[in-house]
Parts: sequence; structure tokens; C-alpha cells
Amino acid sequence: MNTELEQKVEALLGRMTLAQKIGQMVQTERMAIEPEQVKAFHIGSVLSGGGSCPGDNQVNDWVDMNDAYWMASMEEDDEHLAIPVLYGVDAVHGHNNVSGATIFPHNIGLGAARDEDLLNRIAQVTAKEILATGVDWTFAPTLAVARNNLWGRTYESYSEDPDIVGAYSGAFVDGLQGDLGDDAVVACVKHWVGDGGTTEGIDQGDTRISESELESVHIKPYYPAIDNGVLTVMASFNSWNGDKCHGHKYLLSYVLKERMSFNGFVISDWDGIDYLSENYFEAVAAGTNAGIDMFMVSEHWHHFIDHLTHHVVQGTVPMSRIDDAVRRILRVKFAFGLFEKPRPKARPWSNDQSFGSEAHRQIAREAVRKSLVLLKNEQQLLPLAKNQRILVAGKNADNIGHQCGGFTIAWQGTSGNEFVVGGTSIWQGIRDVAAGSVLSTNGTGEDADPALHDVAVVVIGEKPYAEGMGDIRTGDDVIVQAGSQIKGLLKVLEPYGDTLVLADLHPEDLQTITNITSRGVPVVTVMLSGRPLVTNQELSASTAFVAAWLPGSEGQGVADVLFGDHDFSGKLSFSWPRSDNRTSNIGDDDYRPLFAYGYGLSGNQVN
Ligand code: GLC
Repeated sequence: MNTELEQKVEALLGRMTLAQKIGQMVQTERMAIEPEQVKAFHIGSVLSGGGSCPGDNQVNDWVDMNDAYWMASMEEDDEHLAIPVLYGVDAVHGHNNVSGATIFPHNIGLGAARDEDLLNRIAQVTAKEILATGVDWTFAPTLAVARNNLWGRTYESYSEDPDIVGAYSGAFVDGLQGDLGDDAVVACVKHWVGDGGTTEGIDQGDTRISESELESVHIKPYYPAIDNGVLTVMASFNSWNGDKCHGHKYLLSYVLKERMSFNGFVISDWDGIDYLSENYFEAVAAGTNAGIDMFMVSEHWHHFIDHLTHHVVQGTVPMSRIDDAVRRILRVKFAFGLFEKPRPKARPWSNDQSFGSEAHRQIAREAVRKSLVLLKNEQQLLPLAKNQRILVAGKNADNIGHQCGGFTIAWQGTSGNEFVVGGTSIWQGIRDVAAGSVLSTNGTGEDADPALHDVAVVVIGEKPYAEGMGDIRTGDDVIVQAGSQIKGLLKVLEPYGDTLVLADLHPEDLQTITNITSRGVPVVTVMLSGRPLVTNQELSASTAFVAAWLPGSEGQGVADVLFGDHDFSGKLSFSWPRSDNRTSNIGDDDYRPLFAYGYGLSGNQVN
């Protein structure tokens, strides 16, 4: 423990009123608060929810916004102490809300790369693009160990294997926070704990496992992050054996803070305590007494402040708990050097030209290359030759929005090439190296002609989604069952579909492939998806098949490997399902995947 820092914390804590202390425990959304209210209510943090962007969503608009909030928080007077505000965002695969940012592959693809050094470099570049906008804090990395492909957040997980997630956890936190100097941002590992283990993969559902499995699968990846000094942890919406993590004193206060010696602060998820009880007044006490230190309150922050003040006055939340929460928040702000930083407009990285630069995009392009997994390659169809006559088809061939997936510009992602500024689609990447390539007129491949085309590249798969809207759910009975087990409220969103079988989920994809093969042109299929899917029919119709996950803005990284400039090296970090909606994970007793964890052909291998 840094005694000088602790002395600063105690000295400041000792000067604070109850209102100032409770204000520091509040994080609210930028659309719910003006700078003058940050000062008047002593607010500790402001955030952007997915897609919540100032002005024209340009770098300077972000710097100006952060400068206004910071200046207000630092205007000391008789009522207000100068305690700098922290601004937080979901920069989960690059600074993905902001126009022109470098968008990296989502975590599921990075898991296939098996490259910790790459993760560290991605984190360093992401930190610089975050700092360019005057933002201090990202709610990343996600440490979910996704164990069911039905879950809509599978793509935010590096792997079904906690060892990969743990290896990346320390590397990414180190890349973001480093020595907590001018190049650093505050990291936030999430979601504590067991988010990837819910029954039926229901987002925010119930993780019904023993404590030893919770420890060995879901808690294990947090140790390297804590060892690397991660400053914040986000509580999870899910429950553990029926008890909500947001109200779980054992998991929050004993396991994380005491047993694992985490001395940063815990932030709730988006209105996460609301689901503890239908009575919000009770929920405020439950979340606070369980060990949450800062509360992400999207709108009703006034009510939160009133309720928590009431609880302290009447004694249902002890002042010692308030002091512990505020001590942790001040400790993070001092450790991050926030009190010594100049205003956002005057910081070294603000408005830096490296934002979205070619140098940053080259790292993203490298990540795309290393994330690709070759599942099939018959007749040595791959690598392609740059002088071949190539027909490019499929709904995802020329769609950077679909390449990026959810949490990109908008919470649920975008479609088309106009919203993600910078970068290339997979089609553009192929076109730029192979002069004889053409884009199928309406994408369906009906224009395939062996007299004109030597081979076709068909880009298929999922469309963007985020969180529960990405769940695959066979029926609402699973929700009723899960809900009956959970003490509290279950937020249910409209699912993405009801099957992992691609031919049923997106029949247009198999149609496109067979439109082409039936005309005598062999097909290389490239699938964009946030998870492994059941693809038996598409696989058998294709001569070669590549799992490309959600590659982000640098689609030309796919061409780099299709044409052999770089070899395929990706290895599955998720087992590929055989033929049912049930997911199998490495280590399961009846482990029978179609392609096992770790599978992946190299560029010149055939099968
Ligand atoms: C969301 C997500 C969380 C994210 C937060 C802020 O609901 O669960 O991962 O960091 O809200 O956008």
C-alpha cells in the first residue's frame, strides 16, 4: 500500500460532507447531466452508453465535452471540493463509439490469435485513441468465459478456456494502465462474476454451478488483472445460484475485495441495482451494503442520491460503508494521477493525430490476419492467386458495419459502409489486390459463370447485435424457468433467433453458396459471426471455409491471408458445434464437437 497516497485519500475524505461523499459514488450518463450539475451534486463520474456521442461525434467534440465536465468538477467553492470527474466508455474493441476510430476484431477473434503481445499492443493503441478524446476510463477488458454459444455476448469473450482469458487479462490491463502515466487509461474488468456461465446462455440469467467451478472457470481470469493493478471491476447482471451478483456481499466484499485483495473500486452495471428489488429504495441499500462502490445510474441519479442519503441518516447503510466506497474511489483517482492532470483540452494526447492512423490500423490488420481460422481447404483451393477471376458474393462481403458487429458507433452496431469511417470491407480488400475480381451484382451469386469466374468468395453469417438482443432462445419457457430461480427481476430483450443452425437462422447464406456451386464455380466461404454456429450444410457445399468472427474495420486483413501473403495461423478458442443447439466445451465428459478447441488448418494444409 502506498502510504503517501493513502494519506492524501484520508486527508481529502476527512474534509468531505455526506453529500460530497455520496456524489462521488454516482456515475450517470452524459445525456442525463449538465456540467453545472456535476459540480452542484459533486458527481464522481459521467459515461457514454453505447452510441451516446457528443456533437458530430468527432474527436474534438469529445474533448470539448470532457473539458466542460472536468472544469465544472474542479470549480472549488464553499459548497464544492475540487475532485476531478472520471469519464467512462465502452471502448471494447477500439474506441468503438467514435467516428474514425480504429476498430479491432472483437474478443472472440483475438482468442483465436493466441498472441498476448498482440493484445498488449492493441490495448496500448486503444488507450491512445481514448486519450485523444479526453476520456479517462474504459469498461474493458471483458473477462467472460463464455460456455454457451446461445449467449448474445459470446463474441465479447476471448475463449471458453479460462487460461486464455487469464493470459489476455493481465496483458490487456497492462496495455491500458501501464505505469499509470500520461499514456494510461483506467481499465475495468467485467462482469463480476460468472457472466458467461448462465443456463441456456440467457443474458443476465442464472449461473447455476458449484463454488469450485465458479472459482476455476469464471474467477480465475481475474487474478492476473488484479496482479497487474486493475483499478476498477464491474459487477455483473447475472445471478449465481439464484442470488444477484449486484447484491452479493460474499462475492463482492469477501471474495473480490478481501480474499483477492482488490483495493480499487467496484462499479455497478447499467442500472444494475434496479433488478435487486421492485422497491428502488431497498435496492439502493442492498447494492451499497453488498459492496458496490460507484453506481452507474443512467437517468434517475437524483433519486439514488436522495435514497442513499436517507439510508445513511436512518442507519440502514453505515457511514463506514460510505467511507470505504469513497476511499476506494479517491484511491483510484489519486493513483491514476487525475488530480495532477491538466484540463482535458491541455493534456498531451488530446486531439492527437494518431487517432485512427494508418499505424494503428496496421495493428488491427495484423489482428484480423491472426484471428482467421481455416476449417476446411479441399483441392488446395487456398491460397488464391491474385490473377484469378474471382466472384465475391454474400450479404457480408461489402459491409463494414457487419464486419464490426455490436458496440460499434451504435450499441447494436450498424449496417453498410458509411457509419464506420475509415477501414475497408472484405470485398474492398480483395478488389485492391486482385484486379480480376468482381462483386456479385445483387450479392446472391446468381451471376456466377465458370466461363468468367475461376472461384468465388462468399461472405456470410450474422448481422450485428449486442447483449441480450444477441441471445439465441428456443422458446420463452427457458426464461420462465430461469426467472423462477432468480431472487429479483430479470431483464429480457428480444432474442436474435431461435437456433444456432445457420441454414435455419440465415437460409440466404446457403442459398448464395449453392447459387454459385450449382453453376460450376467452387466456393471459399468466409463466415462473420459472434460465435461458432452449426454450419454442416454450408461446410459441405464449400470447398474451403474460414471462420472470420467479427474482424472490425480492417477487412483487408482477410485478403492478406486468402491470397497467401500471410499464412493462416488462427486456432479455435471455442469448440465448434456438431449438429445441435447444445454447446460442448473442452473438458466436458461427452465432448463431441465438429471441430475441437485448438483446431485450425494452416494456409497450405488441405483436408
Ligand atoms: C451494458 C453492459 C456493460 C457496459 C455498460 C455501459 O449494459 O452490460 O458491459 O459496460 O452497460 O454501457
